Amino acid sequence: MRIDIISVLPELMESPFQTSILKRAVQKGLAEVHFHQLRDWSIGKHKQIDDEPYGGGAGMVMMIEPIDKCISELKSQRDYDEIIYLTPDGETLTQKIANTLSIKKNLIFLCGHYKGIDQRVRDLHITKEISIGDYVLTGGELAACVLADSIIRLLPGVLNDEQSALTDSFQDNLLSPPIYTRPSEYKGLVVPEILLSGNSKKIEEWLHDEAMRITLEKRPDILD
Ligand code: ADE
Repeated sequence: MRIDIISVLPELMESPFQTSILKRAVQKGLAEVHFHQLRDWSIGKHKQIDDEPYGGGAGMVMMIEPIDKCISELKSQRDYDEIIYLTPDGETLTQKIANTLSIKKNLIFLCGHYKGIDQRVRDLHITKEISIGDYVLTGGELAACVLADSIIRLLPGVLNDEQSALTDSFQDNLLSPPIYTRPSEYKGLVVPEILLSGNSKKIEEWLHDEAMRITLEKRPDILD
């Protein structure tokens, strides 16, 4: 999979891809992440990329021309499955969306700043708008990292068996059951007997029941 990320602050997104699992995914060639500094397509000697909104109002708007030039150049090099704009008014990111995007080949993420982007960019190029939650960030960069992480960890070969994405919370519309490791007792706090029993069938059942109990308690809305 290839992800092209367009931003005025690409340096903000470097470290997540230079650390741990995402770094390994990139090194193994399972994911390619390319950053594009939008200012490289800026206009005039002032390297302008934003301007005041028509009709007035506070804040600046990212101009159509630099973004159109950047996206058009990328599109001339390969076909993209989705061109995604990270925005608080997009569809809220879910595991299902991450699953769907993880089987795509080429994606563009566009990070907004200031008041947002000229509507005509959305009309012309954007195929999907994604929000990572009902709150407003200073820009789309951190949201782009969250989205990329949620997708890349699902690519075959990125996680090993122990980290398997199939047992994640949300993957089967259930939250994860509680987990424990050594010691079996700490300051009087004990691990549930069943987990020490060695009876794998009983353990499976218990884990499923606990996942159900916790989902009902915390997130009944995600149950089918
Ligand atoms: N840009 C600013 N806030 C955002 C959010 N919540 N999700 C995605 N992109 C954003």
